[in-house]
Amino acid sequence: MDIGIFEQYESNVRGYIRSFPTIFTTAKNSTIMDDKGKTYIDFFGGAGSLNYGHNDPAVKAALIEYIQNDGITNALDKATKAKHDFIVAFQETILKPRDMEYKIQFVGPTGTNAVETALKLARKVKERSNVIAFTNAYHGHTLGALAVTGNEFYHDNYYGVPLNVNKLPYDNYFDQGMDSMDMLSHYLGDASSGFDLPAAVIVETIQGEGGINIASVKWLQKLSKLCQEKDILLVIDDIQVGNGRTGDFFSFERAGIKPDIITLSKSIGTGLPMSIVLMRPEIDQWEPGEHTGTFRGNSLAFIAGATALERWKTDNFSKEIRAKGEKVGAAFRKLQEQHPNYIVDARGLGMIWGLESETEGFCGEVSHQAFERGLLMETAGAGDQVLKFLAPLTISEKELDEGLKLLEESVKAAVEKFDKEAA
Ligand SMILES: Cc1ncc(COP(=O)(O)O)c(C=O)c1O
Repeated sequence: MDIGIFEQYESNVRGYIRSFPTIFTTAKNSTIMDDKGKTYIDFFGGAGSLNYGHNDPAVKAALIEYIQNDGITNALDKATKAKHDFIVAFQETILKPRDMEYKIQFVGPTGTNAVETALKLARKVKERSNVIAFTNAYHGHTLGALAVTGNEFYHDNYYGVPLNVNKLPYDNYFDQGMDSMDMLSHYLGDASSGFDLPAAVIVETIQGEGGINIASVKWLQKLSKLCQEKDILLVIDDIQVGNGRTGDFFSFERAGIKPDIITLSKSIGTGLPMSIVLMRPEIDQWEPGEHTGTFRGNSLAFIAGATALERWKTDNFSKEIRAKGEKVGAAFRKLQEQHPNYIVDARGLGMIWGLESETEGFCGEVSHQAFERGLLMETAGAGDQVLKFLAPLTISEKELDEGLKLLEESVKAAVEKFDKEAA
């Protein structure tokens, strides 16, 4: 196969092919193969859409059976058995055991559609246009979602997106310990602060694309309390760190808070496009068909998603995620200890981890070295200053150990290269 085809015919906007310049063909759990027969350990996990791994055997069997029985595969937003079974599985396995009463809205197939929907619904329900978002936030690339996304690389004033959004510092954005929840509370109590009462606050409990920034439980609880006191809807964007990434199914469970609206996508369909918005029942103020579209019922994603939810019937999966996460954390901290000149921080929770460098280009070089050695890993943060671990949660101990070994070698190679260049 000719990789030049992509350069010749695909738009310049293509992204991941630049970090991983090969043609992938097959994959199993956390191992992915290219057209040359080279295998890679996948620490990238489809940008968080492969929490249940590539081609999980139970998911694969359910999909094959569904297709062979001529199940509906058209993705129009109508009532189907596949959608019925997904709703039942989600209610029974995820929501009810957590005492969460939420309605489900199926939206366009990608994460940004869920964010767009959540913002629109919040504005409609509260009849206010202002929304609060945070530094380094990442919520997607349609215009509403872009307006609440931080990174200036994705912005352009021609898009007109900064309208009706106030940005605040995320938890620990400033080293001096300034608490943006105290700041928000003060602003909202001052009629002259220039801060209009917002319809909603949209937040990630851990900023994935923004560089693995972890909001503290205290900060999240303060945010939740403030939203309740001021009649502001709390939207948690759990697109990247939900679906078990932190060890709990929802990332906000660790803070014991109940958001008004939740966005979920990526792994909810096991990597097949699906996106949902969960809302407290009283917030469901849509008129029938008021916010709709053609592809809001991806049956194959429903079948796959319902099958994957089986894992949540006991707490074994959570325990497994936490145990593997501890191993990754220990390896990351060791790398920081070994290379303090290049790695200034190792941080994470559950199965999302990052290594931060203040040396420009260092994380990109590690990612490149890793690719050469057969390991897929991406960078995060506005300056690509964080190397991000986002392997499938189902990764085997063997794959994890192999991948961590390759990472160690890749970091070492990048350090040697940078040291040599500096000498
Ligand atoms: C937290 C968060 N929200 C929204 C999105 C946008 O999702 P999508 O790329 O599927 O539109 C992403 C994607 O990385 C994300 O991490």
